[in-house]
Amino acid sequence: MHTHHASRHTSHQAHHADTAGTLPDVLIVGGGIIGLVTAWRSAQRGLRTAVVDPEPGGGAAQVAAGMLAAVTELHYGEQVLLGLNLESARRYPGFAAELAEASGQELGYRACGTLAVALDLDDRANLRELHALQVRSGLESEWLTGRECRRLEPMLAPGVRGGLRVDGDHQVDPRRLAKALVIACERAGVAFHRDWAERLTVERGRATGVVLADGTALAAGQVVLAAGSLSGRLAGVPDAVLPPVRPVKGQVLRLTVPRVYAPFLSRTVRAVVRGSHLYLVPRENGELVIGATSEELGWDTTVTAGGVYELLRDAHELVPGITELPLTETRAGLRPASPDNAPLLGPSALPGLLLATGHYRNGVLLTPVTGDVMAELLTTGELPAEARAFTPRRFSPVRQEQPA
Ligand code: GLY
Repeated sequence: MHTHHASRHTSHQAHHADTAGTLPDVLIVGGGIIGLVTAWRSAQRGLRTAVVDPEPGGGAAQVAAGMLAAVTELHYGEQVLLGLNLESARRYPGFAAELAEASGQELGYRACGTLAVALDLDDRANLRELHALQVRSGLESEWLTGRECRRLEPMLAPGVRGGLRVDGDHQVDPRRLAKALVIACERAGVAFHRDWAERLTVERGRATGVVLADGTALAAGQVVLAAGSLSGRLAGVPDAVLPPVRPVKGQVLRLTVPRVYAPFLSRTVRAVVRGSHLYLVPRENGELVIGATSEELGWDTTVTAGGVYELLRDAHELVPGITELPLTETRAGLRPASPDNAPLLGPSALPGLLLATGHYRNGVLLTPVTGDVMAELLTTGELPAEARAFTPRRFSPVRQEQPA
């Protein structure tokens, strides 16, 4: 359907993308899952699209567990975000099927459900509160006794005091998602510039493109900043326009469930242990992801003995049998956090510069809806209704001057 774009935008031509006739309509800074889905959906709509990233498909998705946890990760005061999370969860099955078809890749999308459990009486009281909030918010969540939890997941510790069964919280494999998006973008004719964006270029008060680390200047009709936790650091973006995103480190472990132990867990199991969120996400291919710490340490991505120790200690309290499993990987990633934990989607105060960043804990979940709303905005100039509450303008000083 888009072969005319594919022929104009093979990757070796990308080096000449600033010459006449190949000027992209859209230049996306950042080739993580958010930048890639924006590129894919834009190219599908006939926009000439380019992505700037030294390693497309990298970023936080390489570490993320891939829980699609709109209901079990609900927090007080985040009901507006809940609406967007639920909308994206609703789009996931269709999105996953379409992307698998477009890329020829399996995404590991699994409608497995989630069990959030309590390990002691305090946890149980907190989980009761969460359940009440979920019910008030019209969400499907069933209270189970400890015995009922263990009947569903026999590997759970005998001390589990109760839990919430949420069949609507699913999972996807973020690494496979990222890989599929790169392939789908290539097939849709997206040009890739495998380099760092060094600086945004601004001419007469409008964003006009970027300069790469190798000095190449790229021009485009519109620029999208989708660089995750690095989005607040691009040189050339006026201070008042820089998105207020910061990195929040998460350390994550990957174990392997040998075939003889399968099914070790049949759904995502999570708990709050000593105030920290802990989750175990079992994939159908035997991978078991255990996450995650939450640390405000700037751009540090060191895996620490303390981080690994705490995750294993807490996971062992929840599911003692994990000690038998091979530990295959430890890694840290950076969540792009915003001041209200919700993403920034839409035009910035600088004409020609749009933002798709700040997805914090929900980047994998929000991938489908982000691609749809950004492509709609890039094509029509209008941010769809479901995304309007997430305009970056909510953080601009002008807004505070408006009469109450
Ligand atoms: N959504 C899981 C996390 O950010 O740790």
